[in-house]
Amino acid sequence: MTKKTYYITTPIYYPSAKLHIGNTYTTVAADALARFKRLTGYDVMLLTGTDEHGQKIQRLAEAKGVTPIEYVDEIVAGIKKLWDMMNISYDKFIRTTEDYHVKAVQKIFKKLYDQGDIYKGSYEGLYCTPCESFWTETQAADGKCPDCGRPVEKTKEEAYFFKMSKYAPKLIKYIEDHPDFIQPESRKNEMLNNFLRPGLQDLCVSRTSFNWGIPVTFDEKHVIYVWIDALANYITALGYGSKNEELYNKYWPADVHLVGKDILRFHTIYWPIMLMALGLPVPKKVFGHGWLLVDGGKMSKSKGNVVDPVVLVDNFGADAVRYYLLREIPFGSDGLFNNEIFIKRINADLANDLGNLLSRTCAMVEKYFDGVVQEPTKKEQIDDELIKLALETPEKVEKNMNDLRIPEALDNIWDLITRSNKYIDETTPWILAKDESKKDRLGTVLYNLLESLRIISICVSPYLPETSAKMYKQLNTNVVSWDSITSFNGTKAGTKISKGELLFPRIDVDKKIEELNKLKEEKKAAQNSNEKSLKKQITIDDFDKIDLRVAKVLKCENIKGSNKLLKFQLQMGKEQRQVVSGIAKYYKPEELVGKYVVFVANLKPVKLKGEISEGMILSAASDDDSKLSILSLSDEIPSGSTVR
Ligand code: MSP
Repeated sequence: MTKKTYYITTPIYYPSAKLHIGNTYTTVAADALARFKRLTGYDVMLLTGTDEHGQKIQRLAEAKGVTPIEYVDEIVAGIKKLWDMMNISYDKFIRTTEDYHVKAVQKIFKKLYDQGDIYKGSYEGLYCTPCESFWTETQAADGKCPDCGRPVEKTKEEAYFFKMSKYAPKLIKYIEDHPDFIQPESRKNEMLNNFLRPGLQDLCVSRTSFNWGIPVTFDEKHVIYVWIDALANYITALGYGSKNEELYNKYWPADVHLVGKDILRFHTIYWPIMLMALGLPVPKKVFGHGWLLVDGGKMSKSKGNVVDPVVLVDNFGADAVRYYLLREIPFGSDGLFNNEIFIKRINADLANDLGNLLSRTCAMVEKYFDGVVQEPTKKEQIDDELIKLALETPEKVEKNMNDLRIPEALDNIWDLITRSNKYIDETTPWILAKDESKKDRLGTVLYNLLESLRIISICVSPYLPETSAKMYKQLNTNVVSWDSITSFNGTKAGTKISKGELLFPRIDVDKKIEELNKLKEEKKAAQNSNEKSLKKQITIDDFDKIDLRVAKVLKCENIKGSNKLLKFQLQMGKEQRQVVSGIAKYYKPEELVGKYVVFVANLKPVKLKGEISEGMILSAASDDDSKLSILSLSDEIPSGSTVR
């Protein structure tokens, strides 16, 4: 009989920076789901990959003095290493720079153009380079990107557009007819009410202002702009648009796209419309999970609060990290990552509940029966309760997993773990052991615990693959299929168990947090010095273009309405210059009058807060911007002198 297929995808990641624990979240969840489906008999395809084009990558590569592909190759290798570390069992890793993807995307673009869904126009808007998003004047009213808060740039260029609005009614109907398509429910309403029903704008799908992208075959100065390129990965990875579409025919439509809530709009509006235009089936479900926050809100490099998954895995193991993400964060809502809660969870759930259950049980089997599993005899009522729960657990887990309620599935497993620990306290094997006539009963109690542990070890395998393997080893069992847990007799009498190391040694919370903080400080310092050496090399001719001069501060005053800016009148030889500088936080104006400063004299003038600024005063700032000192000289060097 052919197996039922299950196709699950993660977003493809921008290789623009190191991945943090938030990015890891989607992939860990997708992996747990994929492993669960494999365990329960599905032929699974788990896809992940990297989204490698765009202006941001091009700029980062330029700044580093390497080609974009050299730049991404290195980061992609790091991402793959991270997935290996986290035990992500992906079946395919797609890179959007790969030839098969490029060719298929070009075909898709051409088809959409030929059938009139893509047309040429011109784009005028505010663009946020780091987010690769266009915003309207209303959306970015303060000149800042509504997503990341960084400045947006005004852009106008010739561009191709996708006629989104043409397909909107069809999509609205589809969403209404398929209540499960967008999950969770609240996000479905957000998509319908905030985006679709008010009317869709056509989507800009090509750019000419950079060239690190997939060229439009019939208009080579354009590259295909991010979303068509990125979203198409879900089908090109299966060979769509290539000579061999076997995998596409087998796995498409996807059973679920797992994405963060920030990119849900692209997946539930642009993507299904693209597919409808191509005449292809749309995915069965798109699930938008919440945001992983840290104390102080969103993780960001500038705030210095980014949690590095590699450090966590090095310190606590992949399973502990996976467990926290999957159990602590309600799937679909925002959740918090915090070292203290994390370590306490490991101690309580993994070391105490699960680890102790295994080690206590194995220790008793060793002690009372030389490690040999006994044949169970007569059951008592208390056994029935445990057995009933053990047999009901897989079913409950499966139901929750099918509804994408991952933390609830773990709750079910932990109910059985808790019940089993309670069973030890209720049956008191150490008392039974004192009475030779109760040897059979003791053997039965330990059998029930071992069998319950076998069921637990199978149930936890999608979430804690390393732990599950260690449990199989200690229980010395190879009866580990999902089918084997429909009855309570998979543990074989006569087996010799092999008590091993503790699954999760208890952690001293305060000591560990101190260690982690120290590590973070060290890393930050190393990273800062690393980043400084990152600027691209320049030649002496490049440097020669900068005209650095000594100038004397004649006058310095605050600028009305700004608490950042100071306005300087500088004497530079015979000439006088006005310069505006954002250093009001560090100096009182009167402190600076009379000083000889170094300044860039040939910088193109700009207006700041309505004041003309004809140059830039040099200063040095600490990495966290808490301290700043302007570069000043003694008055023995006359103003106007060149600085070399
Ligand atoms: N390249 C696009 C996706 C294209 S899919 C066709 C992208 N990449 S990303 O690297 O910026 O983000 C990858 C995933 O990480 C997204 O699902 C995003 O929501 C998720 N996360 C990034 N930060 C996150 C948290 N702090 N918490 C949870 N997930 C977050 O978007």
